[in-house]
Amino acid sequence: MTNAPAARPYRRPRPDAARLAAYDVLHAVGERDAYANLVLPALLRERKIIPRDAAFTTELVHGTLRRQGTYDQIVAACTDRPVKEIDPPVLDVLALGVHQLLSMRTPTHAAVSATVELARAVLGDGRAKFVNAVLRRVSRQDLDAWLRQIAPSYEDDPEGHLAVLHSHPRWIVQALWDALGARGNAHDRAAMEALLGADNIAPVISLVARPGRVELSELFEAGAVPGRWSPYAATLPEGDPASIKAIRDGRAAVQDEGSQLVATALANAEVTVEGAESRWLDLCAGPGGKAGLLAAIATGRDVSLLAVERRQHRARLVRNAIGHLTHHQVITADGTKPAWQPGIFDRVIADVPCSGLGALRRRPESRWRRKPEDIAELGELQRALLRTAIESTRPGGAIAYVTCSPHPAETRVVVDDVLRAGEAELIDARPLFPGVPDLGTGPDVQLWPHLHGTDAMYLALLRRTG
Ligand SMILES: C[S@@+](CC[C@H](N)C(=O)[O-])C[C@H]1O[C@@H](n2cnc3c(N)ncnc32)[C@H](O)[C@@H]1O
Repeated sequence: MTNAPAARPYRRPRPDAARLAAYDVLHAVGERDAYANLVLPALLRERKIIPRDAAFTTELVHGTLRRQGTYDQIVAACTDRPVKEIDPPVLDVLALGVHQLLSMRTPTHAAVSATVELARAVLGDGRAKFVNAVLRRVSRQDLDAWLRQIAPSYEDDPEGHLAVLHSHPRWIVQALWDALGARGNAHDRAAMEALLGADNIAPVISLVARPGRVELSELFEAGAVPGRWSPYAATLPEGDPASIKAIRDGRAAVQDEGSQLVATALANAEVTVEGAESRWLDLCAGPGGKAGLLAAIATGRDVSLLAVERRQHRARLVRNAIGHLTHHQVITADGTKPAWQPGIFDRVIADVPCSGLGALRRRPESRWRRKPEDIAELGELQRALLRTAIESTRPGGAIAYVTCSPHPAETRVVVDDVLRAGEAELIDARPLFPGVPDLGTGPDVQLWPHLHGTDAMYLALLRRTG
């Protein structure tokens, strides 16, 4: 009599906390349009994930979200099913596995077995088998080999090639290339690759020392080093900014140097208003980065800042950023329907809502969420806000039109359209960026992550005429 092999006893899946947290963030991002930058830190705190695991989860989440489009194509090459027919939670688990296999140094066995364990827990045993089979196929070659296999050649399809290689949607590659300028030679290709590559690297942590409220030396004593361009900037090479007292007190803040530069340029622009300056306006102030800096500068000049923000919770953030500085005001209002007299402000900033194509490195999921239609949809609001900004400015006063997008439809085209009314003129913004190279042909300024290490901030500086 032969004994049938005993069935393996059922073992409950035990995914590790770091990978489960990464999956839960990806799921929240896909399912309810959550922002990874908000969900991830809260979840790491709530689950008390230890710092080493937290760093692993952060890399897993950010890297996977940035490269999700490319990873989906690799998965597609490893299954008979079209990606569209694979459930999003399965694709999320697969993308996490692919990132560990191809872009992190996780050993193949650990990457596959830990991801399959995760799949058993969140998808069930049946779908975990599918995950196992796909990941084993993915692990047969490295990322470079996969990219060679799935990307069209540069010669046949330059945009398609770069889209796959650097994991950006094709329309964004096209838009960024248009913004960067002419294409067609090796130099242009290198610049484009540098820009797309910069989008895939987390930015350094830039701090601003709000003038009159804190000295840079206090930030240096807390571990920061000098920034690159802005007179108020420091860079934090490592550690948590919240551990710095000046940041907890609101005397300093985390702020990209590009944002600091455009706000400072407005503050330093020459104005030809009659008499002394008394009022500045920030028309789109939330969450208050530029308003915090402008308010600090304005205080030193005995000028008051009015900060306007349409959304209440963001207006609250602006109040925090301005702190207890007296004679500044924050109101929750629609900037296109001014609740103030026209022509009364000496300096006005319209940092308008935009597609955010210049800050993709900061928001790992945003490149896949944005749609080309978004840009056209924002155009009317951008024009209306710029018109209000101009109408609110005294003759001879300065207006800064700012976006964190380099897309021409959100930058020059908007400015040119609004300028046709003849109420303002463009002035050369470049001299207001002393020591900053590669500012282009002017008169407006476009900053770039690959050239300046900042977000791709755009500034058109105008003067109110007549
Ligand atoms: C690009 S953000 C501004 C960033 C801000 N200047 C900073 O440096 O932190 C644009 C802001 O404009 C606000 N906004 C959108 N439409 C608005 C409107 N009609 N009036 C006033 N604010 C508006 C958005 O809620 C958002 O907070």
